[in-house]
Amino acid sequence: MFFRSSVVSLTMAAVLLIAVGGCRSRVQNRPVGKAVSIAVPLGLPPLPLPRDNPPTSDSIALGRMLFFDKHLSQDDSLACSSCHNPQTYFTDGQRLSKGLGGMSLRNAPTVMNAAYLPFQFWDGRALTLEEQAASPIADPIEMNQPHNVSVKKIAAESAYKGMFAKAFGTDNVTLGRIENALASFERTLLSGNSAFDRYQYGGDQTALTISQARGLAVFLDPNKGNCAACHTVRPHDALFTDGKFHNTGEGVGDLDQFSDVGRYHETKVKTDTGAFKTPTLRNVANTAPYMHDGRLKTLKEVVDFYAGGGNSNLYLDPEMKKIHLNGTDREDLVAFMQSLTGEMPPDVGPPDKKK
Ligand code: HEC
Ligand code: HEC
Repeated sequence: MFFRSSVVSLTMAAVLLIAVGGCRSRVQNRPVGKAVSIAVPLGLPPLPLPRDNPPTSDSIALGRMLFFDKHLSQDDSLACSSCHNPQTYFTDGQRLSKGLGGMSLRNAPTVMNAAYLPFQFWDGRALTLEEQAASPIADPIEMNQPHNVSVKKIAAESAYKGMFAKAFGTDNVTLGRIENALASFERTLLSGNSAFDRYQYGGDQTALTISQARGLAVFLDPNKGNCAACHTVRPHDALFTDGKFHNTGEGVGDLDQFSDVGRYHETKVKTDTGAFKTPTLRNVANTAPYMHDGRLKTLKEVVDFYAGGGNSNLYLDPEMKKIHLNGTDREDLVAFMQSLTGEMPPDVGPPDKKK
């Protein structure tokens, strides 16, 4: 018995050694420099960081270059920033995004505070920012460029000379390094310290107008707006999303037909039909139009949609109840959402080309 198990463990040790040895000869995608701490503004929770991609000042700088680089698209016309533009709080202001292959099916969500989300995309088909990053590059509707071509184009650009070596130890350009650098830059896109945060978490009772403070109460009250059932507000911080998927009836047609099945696409669970990830409401006054299909043009239209209980359908979320909101309640809710406009962190615009 003893003999047999030690043979097994010896064999396993050998396999492990080979595996580790094999890894060592591959290009490492882990940043090499000293990890930096990213400042978290008032109202946001501590920032989760992946162990295998600690952000460094060099990987963040590289990610910023890549985020604004149109060479990641097939005809050099689109960068990540074309659809996630810092001037519109990292959205594109369009109903549906326009990529190289035509219209995307969905509205571009903001990338701000996405570092906190347990799922990426409206349907949650990626889990991490690293995993998400490669997808728009190769997507035929979006940037439409095979990954090996992107890697070659980036490697050929003189602007990146030395940057991969500084961030990752060697000059090699790999998809993994591109993903890691993009994700690290995106982790710096934190927005908080809004009027709401100063009121709720900073003890400044004057930060909200009277109407906004009333709107906050409607937002939180389960018997009034019931908004915080999904757009979470916690004792010490608020992401205004539970990170989960709900069917609000947005996008449902006659006979319960969904032009976009949302979360169901990923899980194939019937009750997930028409469910989409709760979006954050931070900076929402600046990110119109709204919903996964960009159908609602103003915050007033959104509030009226909820006041009607959403659109009824077979899979409507139980928290989507008919709520009674009078005219003042509705105005107050809109005013409250306007108090969620936060600060922009420094160094998130297009990088200086000369550097
Ligand atoms: C053509 C426009 C377009 C381009 C270019 C684009 N995106 Fe997006 N992005 C979108 C749309 C639309 C979605 C939502 C798609 C969905 O949910 O199916 C999205 C979703 C995301 C999300 C998920 C956010 C969330 O809350 O779920 C992240 C992160 C993101 N993009 C980052 C990037 C990065 C990094 C790049 C560049 C490599 C990029 N995007 C390029 C349009 C674009
Ligand atoms: C059952 C969960 C739930 C409740 C309750 C809820 N929401 Fe939402 N909210 C969502 C989901 C999910 C979406 C995205 C729906 C879609 O695009 O199909 C959304 C979208 C929004 C948007 C659009 C944001 C954007 O960037 O497109 C706003 C604004 C909003 N909700 C405000 C509110 C307000 C105000 C209330 C209360 C009156 C409320 N929500 C109640 C889950 C909820």
